Amino acid sequence: MEAKLLNNNTLLFSYHQSLLNWYHNHKRDLPWRKNPNYYAVWISEIILQQTQVKQGLNYYLRFMQAFPNVEDLAKATEDEVLKLWEGLGYYSRARNLHFGAKQIVELGGFPDSYNAWLKIKGVGPYTAAAISSIVADEAQAVVDGNVQRVISRLVKYETAVNNTQGIKDIQKYAQDLMSLKYPGDYNQAIMELGATVCKPTNPYCGNCPVNSFCLAAELGVQKGLPVKEKKLKVKPRYLHYYVLHSDGHYLLERRGQGDVWEGLYQFPLIETQTEKDLPVPSQLTQVSQKELAGAELLWQGKHILSHQRLYINCWLVNVDVKLTEEERFEWYAKTEVEKLAMPRPLRKVFSEYLMH
Ligand code: ADE
Repeated sequence: MEAKLLNNNTLLFSYHQSLLNWYHNHKRDLPWRKNPNYYAVWISEIILQQTQVKQGLNYYLRFMQAFPNVEDLAKATEDEVLKLWEGLGYYSRARNLHFGAKQIVELGGFPDSYNAWLKIKGVGPYTAAAISSIVADEAQAVVDGNVQRVISRLVKYETAVNNTQGIKDIQKYAQDLMSLKYPGDYNQAIMELGATVCKPTNPYCGNCPVNSFCLAAELGVQKGLPVKEKKLKVKPRYLHYYVLHSDGHYLLERRGQGDVWEGLYQFPLIETQTEKDLPVPSQLTQVSQKELAGAELLWQGKHILSHQRLYINCWLVNVDVKLTEEERFEWYAKTEVEKLAMPRPLRKVFSEYLMH
């Protein structure tokens, strides 16, 4: 069945009116919506790819306070940027943001179109569409997970949305359905509808401003949409951290390239291939057997990333002297450790068990 909205301009206009009117009355009061400018919208959109508005707002405010404009961000060190991103995960987004700021300063100003934004590091079709529509009312449809769900229900799209064909189809529907008169508000409205009303498992169809245009609602099939293909298997990893402590100092290294948590600080690590393999800490440091024998299990837990499940053990080892270890390691005082960006589970261990 073809979506009725798509070949009836009167209906399409009325759909825009209902959605925009609802947005006008229900939109959340968010700082980057006051006077949309390129910097604020760019930062907010990158943060919101990582978390929901409720949590993202704090990150946004802290980010803007630390770097009020793109020049400040470009001048920052990578460590400062990562520190502000700490806890959000997917740290390449923070590094790209930093790199992007340098690109923009080099260009002498912000890109002023969808295509020009695509050239900025870390900005893909979603972000470029969001920025150029919200700030400059360019008619580029945004498709994020929320929009994907709203559209698949509106037009009753019953095949997978997360393969090449599905992505292409939903993007086309999104573009055909969008308001050319108010692209920025329309994009924000459809994202907001997905986030607050057209929920994944229990959509509030009774409160939906576009319920009467929705084919899935008409046929009662909204809860089964969108259809998704099964994702790749999640890989398990086994990480053993050795928290070496000496006189209020901790031994840390900065993680290298090409793996999760790039550029973040961690305790000395031994990774084993299976759950059963025993870590051999003498591989790692010059700590004596005697000191290792006193190791105490501080924390054991699981941490889920998008494609990996990390099983983490943290051992506390008190050592008498601050050994000069390999170059990549360095001793940091507690107050310094607080300032470094660390992976979320390690930060938690540090704050809960080691700070005081
Ligand atoms: N999610 C991400 N960006 C958004 C925006 N600009 N409005 C509503 N929800 C969003």
